Amino acid sequence: MWRIKQNQITQISICGVVILLLSWCWLNQESRIDALQRSEIETSYTHQVDHNKQPYKDEFFTIEAKQQDISFYTNKESSNLRTYGTWSEPLVVRASVWDKLHIKAINSLPDPTTIHWHGIRVPLDQDGVPWISQDPIQPWATYDYMFSVWDPWTYWFHSHIDTAKQVAKWLYGILIVEDERFANMYDQERVRALKDYRLEEDWSLNEDFVVGMDHTMWGRLWNTRTINNEILPVYTAKAWDIVLLRLVNTSSARIYNLDLRQRKAKVVESDGWPIQTPYEPWVLQMGVGERYTLLVEIPDDAASLELVDIYYPEPSQLAVIDIEWNTIKTWQINTYTWDASVPDRRVLEWATPDFQVELGGMNVSGWDKMLSWWDSGWTINNKIHQEWDMMTHTNPLFSLQRNTLYTIRLNNNSQRDHPMHLHGDFFQVVWVNGRERPYAGRKDTVNVPAQWHTDIAIIPTNPWTWMFHCHINEHAEYGMMATLKIE
Ligand code: C2O
Ligand code: CU
Repeated sequence: MWRIKQNQITQISICGVVILLLSWCWLNQESRIDALQRSEIETSYTHQVDHNKQPYKDEFFTIEAKQQDISFYTNKESSNLRTYGTWSEPLVVRASVWDKLHIKAINSLPDPTTIHWHGIRVPLDQDGVPWISQDPIQPWATYDYMFSVWDPWTYWFHSHIDTAKQVAKWLYGILIVEDERFANMYDQERVRALKDYRLEEDWSLNEDFVVGMDHTMWGRLWNTRTINNEILPVYTAKAWDIVLLRLVNTSSARIYNLDLRQRKAKVVESDGWPIQTPYEPWVLQMGVGERYTLLVEIPDDAASLELVDIYYPEPSQLAVIDIEWNTIKTWQINTYTWDASVPDRRVLEWATPDFQVELGGMNVSGWDKMLSWWDSGWTINNKIHQEWDMMTHTNPLFSLQRNTLYTIRLNNNSQRDHPMHLHGDFFQVVWVNGRERPYAGRKDTVNVPAQWHTDIAIIPTNPWTWMFHCHINEHAEYGMMATLKIE
């Protein structure tokens, strides 16, 4: 009896030792491979910035923030908006890679303002965040911005002060950095801003921007969706043409799910990065602040196309494209490969991300707490913006070293979506809810749906302390902002 027991014990302990040894080897092996691959990725990463680099050329622009009275419908009540451009077109600024932009911002508004260059890896003092990068530009004052652009494709710029009101009132423009490798791949280019407005019965703009339900719930969702400020525009396009469609979600809070089923529409860019393998999604989700560029092949077997948002069960039509007949031509979207220099996702099957970020917020039981600004609101790692001491830069969420690969899990524990935006640098979305993202591209803004988690990888390039916040303006104002330090 005793002998048997002893035998068993010996066997069990031998087994145990073998298992331990094996798992030690395996773990060790795993982490060595991981470290090796990480450093390979880090050293092959080429998207550096050098703020002292000689520019390819200098480009000079003047941007004036001004008031403008507009009517959403002819002969209807007009509304007082804010704009850098004209009513029907956002201001589009164009440059080439490595250009140095010199932009004189003129504030002709009755309120202070700034301009933030969303997605551009600028030096911190050009980033347009009030009190962190610069003092607000007072009414009738000017400010000179100067920075180089490193990466091609589509960016936007907007006021970064009182955003729930100023951006909501149309104070933004589009910045396009041309990608010469892509010229000749399309017949037409279209730049389109998606945006919604809350209109009254007389079609004038609802001017109630105070903190309230909008801040505590979805953000300020508005009742009228527009494209370049037009309600249900009708465009024309020619059959067989290839249209390069640059889309920017400039809304305060609205997230779009664009229905692209039965369209020949390839995604070629996200947030200023070419997609290595362009893909044709059924539904393209666009969180606030995100940009996507599509190559759309206009079909010859339909009289028109529609652009429809299906984020909510009730589909909402955004635009109609009437198709004109055309002489037959052969479609040829050339194949191409980009050096998008993205981390290889195979090595990013990490067990534990290097950092966890909890996105949270109030629940119904916290309702009256919420009405007091200091006690509660939308949180990042359970703190609202004041608690992150953003002005002093002394309390970042975490510090990252330049040229080092990190993995970060964004956990959305709340009941609302949060399109999270990082200033000054890029990341790559690797997994969404544990599932591989269908393509590789780098981004500065990613929507983290309610109750989901999104894993991102970052190799920081631009050392400063940067804002990291929800791009739903009301959520950011109500707490969902923090900073991240790059050393
Ligand atoms: Cu597009 Cu901090 O913003
Ligand atoms: Cu949010």
